[in-house]
Amino acid sequence: MPNTILVGAQWGDEGKGKIIDFLTDEAQIVVRSQGGNNAGHTIVIGGDKYVLHLIPSGILRKSKICVIGNGVVLDPVSLVGEIEGLRKRGVKVEKNLLISDAAHLVMPYHCALDGQRESLKGSKKIGTTKRGIGPAYADKASRVGLRTGDLLRPDLFKKKLSRRIKENNVILKSLGAKPLNAKKVLEEQLVAAAVLRPFIANTAVFLHRALASKKSMLFEGAQGTFLDIDHGTYPFVTSSNTTAGGACTGSGVPPHRIDSVLGVMKAYTTRVGEGPFVTEEDSLGDMLHGMGREFGATTGRARRCGWFDAVSTRYAALLNGIDEIAITNLDGLDNLEVIQVCVAYKLDGKTIEFPPTDSDDLARCKPVYLEMPGWMKSTEKARKFTDLPPNARAYVKKIAELTETKLTIVSIGPARAQTIRL
Ligand code: IMP
Ligand code: MG
Repeated sequence: MPNTILVGAQWGDEGKGKIIDFLTDEAQIVVRSQGGNNAGHTIVIGGDKYVLHLIPSGILRKSKICVIGNGVVLDPVSLVGEIEGLRKRGVKVEKNLLISDAAHLVMPYHCALDGQRESLKGSKKIGTTKRGIGPAYADKASRVGLRTGDLLRPDLFKKKLSRRIKENNVILKSLGAKPLNAKKVLEEQLVAAAVLRPFIANTAVFLHRALASKKSMLFEGAQGTFLDIDHGTYPFVTSSNTTAGGACTGSGVPPHRIDSVLGVMKAYTTRVGEGPFVTEEDSLGDMLHGMGREFGATTGRARRCGWFDAVSTRYAALLNGIDEIAITNLDGLDNLEVIQVCVAYKLDGKTIEFPPTDSDDLARCKPVYLEMPGWMKSTEKARKFTDLPPNARAYVKKIAELTETKLTIVSIGPARAQTIRL
């Protein structure tokens, strides 16, 4: 398999975890390069459901190496919980997991700040998962962050962490939040550090050695294009680069060693949290929630739902350099008589081709829809492209045409077998 970056082309939850799991069969190394445990990747194997937050989905396949790169922000206690949860279910987590020594740590004060700042925002809230992601990346940019490498030197780590708790307690108090108990935080972090120490390494060096020996790599994007800190619907975004470039800076693998970018798109659109959503359609959300679909894997929140938006996904294809697309959750539309696809936006009486940068402008855009006939038939059992009803085939082909990409995968259910390769 060529070295591939997999990105979400919408607002996250495109079904990336499942596609990664499917493709990992062909890759040797799976790399996470950004985000933290705000992500939730759901994978179903033989009726067993796994939800992963920090560990790359490749962990569920034997003889694959998983790397948590330098661009990730990592909550040690949460990661230990994830490792132990997998081990309890018989999944091996040993030398098959490597953690970058340059990845920044998410500490309890980051989570406390995330929650407190969000509640002070009132109606202007972002809808953060409150996993401390934004404050941790802010500390990284402010050059006051702690890194996984610090966990290798417990005495120094204790000193650094104590200083950071002291400063953050002042900030927490000034924001009206309860200060943290330093002793308790130090104790729990040192316990987690002991579990994580054997996994910590210079992963950039590891990846370059792997490239030299022609190992193939899959970069597992978390969140989606429009949650990108630079290209997303700012400020309703996460704090990392979720677009393809983030895979390089977040791992130390240079751009020219990447062969392909695969974009994952849901057959409709969802978004969790606040922010503009041009094609939002509550009746579609009601139907999908009624089918037991579209509840967040990390927070359990009901996701906002809407029609497929070809304006934003075409832009996502440009931003990421998407060569191929995987369309997921097609089966979610099985019962519909008609399906809308947004082909343009109207803003102040003008038709526009690309989403405006400003979130208030984007919120004022009105969708221009193309109506397509539904197929009113279950697609769950389709195994080849020709098994899909003709209207379903026409629909996914239309998506590829409108986004100017090549369709290579269609997913019609959570199981590995429910994946059609074109
Ligand atoms: P944060 O990254 O937890 O601070 O959340 C910022 C915004 O990104 C919120 O709207 C979240 O709902 C959204 N978000 C963060 N991670 C994910 C994800 O993995 N899937 C979907 N939305 C996410
Ligand atoms: Mg998710």
